[in-house]
Amino acid sequence: MTDIDFNDDNARSFVSGQEIDSLQADVDRLHDDLEKGAGQGSDYLGWLHLPSRTSSSLLDSIISTQKEITDQCDAFVCVGIGGSYLGARAAISFLNPAFGNPRGPEIYFAGQNISSDYHADLLDRLADREVCINVISKSGTTTEPAIAFRLLSNFMEKKYGREESRKRIVVTTDSQKGALKTLADEEGYKSFVIPDDVGGRFSVLTPVGLLPIAMTGIDIRALLEGAVQSENALTQTSDLSKNMAYRYAANRHLLYQKGKVIELMATFHPAFEYILEWWKQLAGESEGKKGQGIFPASAQYTTDLHSLGQWVQDGNRNLFETFLMVGKSVHSIEIPGVTDDKDGLGYLEGKSLDFVNEKAYKGSAAAHLEGGVPSLTLALKERSAHNLGQLIYFFERAVAMTGYLSEVNPFDQPGVELYKKNMFTLLNKPGYEKGK
Ligand code: PA5
Repeated sequence: MTDIDFNDDNARSFVSGQEIDSLQADVDRLHDDLEKGAGQGSDYLGWLHLPSRTSSSLLDSIISTQKEITDQCDAFVCVGIGGSYLGARAAISFLNPAFGNPRGPEIYFAGQNISSDYHADLLDRLADREVCINVISKSGTTTEPAIAFRLLSNFMEKKYGREESRKRIVVTTDSQKGALKTLADEEGYKSFVIPDDVGGRFSVLTPVGLLPIAMTGIDIRALLEGAVQSENALTQTSDLSKNMAYRYAANRHLLYQKGKVIELMATFHPAFEYILEWWKQLAGESEGKKGQGIFPASAQYTTDLHSLGQWVQDGNRNLFETFLMVGKSVHSIEIPGVTDDKDGLGYLEGKSLDFVNEKAYKGSAAAHLEGGVPSLTLALKERSAHNLGQLIYFFERAVAMTGYLSEVNPFDQPGVELYKKNMFTLLNKPGYEKGK
């Protein structure tokens, strides 16, 4: 049992119960393939039982590093991109207040773009702050974080001198290879290892995500405990009436086969913004192969009901929605009473914002269904580290199963290489010159 509710009632008129049941035998076989490491990409299944296998000593070491860094700095910069960035950013923005980080240093991100203005503004912001850096790259050779780290380490050396700046830099990378590993060894930076068998987009529950997440005071043990709970529930059975990650995958697979090629994941809570960004990478990089795959898109409702809403209601009927909800907000706010009713909101007096938000969800789901857009709903009980751990693992299982149902390897990403090669050729990187 987990705290994630899954509901597919609003997809029933597009995908029948019998059609879901007809996938059961395939799902059973693919579940066995996953568990036995007999399917495609089996070298990268380290995420599958990672939550239950994470040692207490690793968590202790992350927490003691977090304490050391917290004592030294008031600004913490995470340098990374893709899987070495999105998971941490997602958890940090999901579990913290909308503005600032009350339990630790200010958090900044770098290396997720190559914008000179962004990096100039960042360096400007850091100038009068006490700074620590966590540079994260599995390959240790990715261009964007490498450039940002060169800029930042240069800045640190000027600010603190070489000796002191070394103590303020933590590296998270491969155990053996890559330029970052070599640099970490030579400079004596404190380092954490990314397991070989865990791909970038499945790495949020390794030190890749755990150290930055811990920096904001989030309870990473509770996060892991939640993930273990999902791991147990979703390993135990592949029965589509019980394993909701697989049921979600089965719905996605069948909707895609019926021409619903876009999944618009919509939330009514800004705290989910980067969870959606993380999910888009997880789903898109895992499933978009061999000319197929659902295109993962996201929307922030109710904001986007006033922009994308028209398209969703009435545009090309090639999408389905997945609503990502939360049962209970951290705070409860009621609409106050006033002496007159000039704004016409008297009918909502005393009602909570959650109540109004819930009606916006129900109203849009019903309207969109009427307009030909089926929907699925995933609802967390609350905005807690424990529930987030459950959700992260839920999505990992669901995406792995959807990839296997479409007969692609969900754990590689050959498609992201071509842009890099082209860029290197244009930059005259040694070994990538034109014609080579
Ligand atoms: O999922 C992936 O493998 C990618 O998105 C990587 O995480 C991303 O390209 C960053 O790679 P690295 O951690 O090697 O710098």
